[in-house]
Amino acid sequence: MNWHASVLTLFPEMFPGPLGHSLAGKALRESRWALDAIDIRGFATDRHRSVDDTPCGGGAGMVLRPDVVDAAVGAALAAGPDRPAVVLTPRGTPLDQSTVRRLAEGAGVVVLCGRFEGIDQRVIEARNLQEISIGDYVLSGGEPAAMVLLDACVRLLPGVMGAADSAVEESFSGGLLEYPHYTRPAEWNGRAVPPVLLSGHHAEIARWRRAEAERITRERRPDLWARLHPNAAEAGAMDGRPAAA
Ligand SMILES: C[S@@+](CC[C@H](N)C(=O)[O-])C[C@H]1O[C@@H](n2cnc3c(N)ncnc32)[C@H](O)[C@@H]1O
Repeated sequence: MNWHASVLTLFPEMFPGPLGHSLAGKALRESRWALDAIDIRGFATDRHRSVDDTPCGGGAGMVLRPDVVDAAVGAALAAGPDRPAVVLTPRGTPLDQSTVRRLAEGAGVVVLCGRFEGIDQRVIEARNLQEISIGDYVLSGGEPAAMVLLDACVRLLPGVMGAADSAVEESFSGGLLEYPHYTRPAEWNGRAVPPVLLSGHHAEIARWRRAEAERITRERRPDLWARLHPNAAEAGAMDGRPAAA
């Protein structure tokens, strides 16, 4: 059975969208993964096919109803009960590469996309949905976030990336951001490729790349650096050296 993603959405026509192109699209056509976009509105029971209602306690906007969402989640899980179910929300745990790796190693995922003000909390709790955020900003709907999540997972599935695109050295794989890349020409607009990369000396190149990855991580993401070197801040503070030196 290939990796199976079910997306619950009010806009199923948005899928596969970008996921139908490039690496993910090729993998989809090769059946390395399967995608179904399920219309939440198909689970509405009244004659107006309503999926939302006004927020209890007042306030702007609308909230997705728990009964309709619950029926949609239930139908998706019936088609693949071994899959974790997640809901995309700015309130969720920030998505990172370890979560992506864990999801990619499983049977697939059920992804619930919110719209309007969000989803009734009771169905999130009743279905034990894992709440995931793709960043500290607010989108108008969960669909672009679902595409981000699925794209990140699909590229890790067996056979999707060629050896040339290996995930081994890329950002976050060892807790570091990746080193910078260069290609020909060796000099462009007065800017030269770092000479070591043209030296043919593999050990030197590996050392340079490692040092650059460390420098960039230290400068740009002190949070990642501190996770790799939990005692560095303390040691720096005690002997007066800068924490990340
Ligand atoms: C307009 S937003 C709702 C925002 C919500 N009222 C709040 O302030 O947290 C509508 C939907 O977009 C999705 N969404 C918005 N921002 C997101 C983010 N940063 N990560 C994941 N999903 C997001 C969620 O599914 C959400 O239910």
